[in-house]
Amino acid sequence: MPISERVGRLGSGVFARNDRRKAAYAGEPALLDLSLGSTDLQPPPVAIAAMQAQLGTPESAAYCLHAATAPFRQAVARWAQRRFGTSVDPEREVLLLVGSQEGTAHLPLAVLNPGEAALLLDPYYPSHMGGLHLASAEPVLLPLRPEQGWKPDFDAVDDATWARIRLMVLGFPHNPTATTGEQAWVDAAVSKALQHGCVLAHDNPYVDLALDGEAPALLRNPAWREVGIEFFSFSKSWCLGGYRLAFAIGAEGLISALRQLKGVVDFNQSLALQAGAIAALEQAGDWPEQLRATYRERRDRMAAALEAVGWPVPLPSMALYLWLPLPPVARAQGLDSETFCARLLEATGVALTPGNGFGPGGEGWLRLALVHPVEQLEAGAARIGRWLASL
Ligand SMILES: Cc1ncc(COP(=O)(O)O)c(C=O)c1O
Repeated sequence: MPISERVGRLGSGVFARNDRRKAAYAGEPALLDLSLGSTDLQPPPVAIAAMQAQLGTPESAAYCLHAATAPFRQAVARWAQRRFGTSVDPEREVLLLVGSQEGTAHLPLAVLNPGEAALLLDPYYPSHMGGLHLASAEPVLLPLRPEQGWKPDFDAVDDATWARIRLMVLGFPHNPTATTGEQAWVDAAVSKALQHGCVLAHDNPYVDLALDGEAPALLRNPAWREVGIEFFSFSKSWCLGGYRLAFAIGAEGLISALRQLKGVVDFNQSLALQAGAIAALEQAGDWPEQLRATYRERRDRMAAALEAVGWPVPLPSMALYLWLPLPPVARAQGLDSETFCARLLEATGVALTPGNGFGPGGEGWLRLALVHPVEQLEAGAARIGRWLASL
């Protein structure tokens, strides 16, 4: 059966293998899945009520064309004004998305011709690389280094390479390193994009989940509409991941190109879902604050629990994840991140994500998602500790 080379390049191997191992695990104790950023925390009731009120209406069942999304886009523009103090044109600079994953994965098709180069941070969020493969683009990796606090060094890319780069994809707060980052880092990316005439795509689903400091944003840079597009999501700030709601704000030309491209692929989300999203933006603006308090406690307690079993880990500046260096005993035995995760799962039922799934720069690291209550996380740390002691 003919399958495109493009699909071959998608190379989701690490995650597929991890999923197969999770599915095959039938041991005792029960699986404790800390490998996905899919939260156990709940969305604001006001958002769910707004959806319920609209479910079953004929308008919610119909295909939703762009014109019908105007109330949503207006709510987004008001949110951007409140959140970043910038005025956004809801007609021309806002686009509803079926998740920021969908938007960031489709964007390269709207920006790049086959073979053109795009800059990605390494480690990267997997769909950022996937989007480049879909567009048959050439990925250029910019390594992030722990000794530099995961700060991107845009000057490490030489001028000849910059001259080829048409799109830069980054996102702070950063998954998987769980680093909030600084506005200066995004501003440096804006300067490079202006200097070299490339598009800057800033993926910002964690804008409300900085635990230390304030999250950077492209929209805080006055040049945002000259260079780029920023992606926001309802999945993390309002725990609506399963509802697939997100939006992009950006330069008119980029929004219009992405809208045109998406017109081939999908329709907008139902008006019922949009009603929930509008309620989240307008009536549950404080929701992320309580999420941060919960994640902060989980972060602190889990880091302490791991340290107590002999695995000291860095305290991340962003909610939702710990980004863990392989423990010393695993390093001493020469285990890579995937082998470590496979053996950990088999022995303890605790599933983490191997860092190599996020690119070569993730090797030697593991991602742990804080998506269960503290008691379960601490019980997981105890299981991990007993297994490490047996190595
Ligand atoms: C960097 C990044 N972008 C996008 C997504 C996907 O978000 P959404 O649910 O809006 O598609 C995630 C989810 O974990 C993410 O970490």
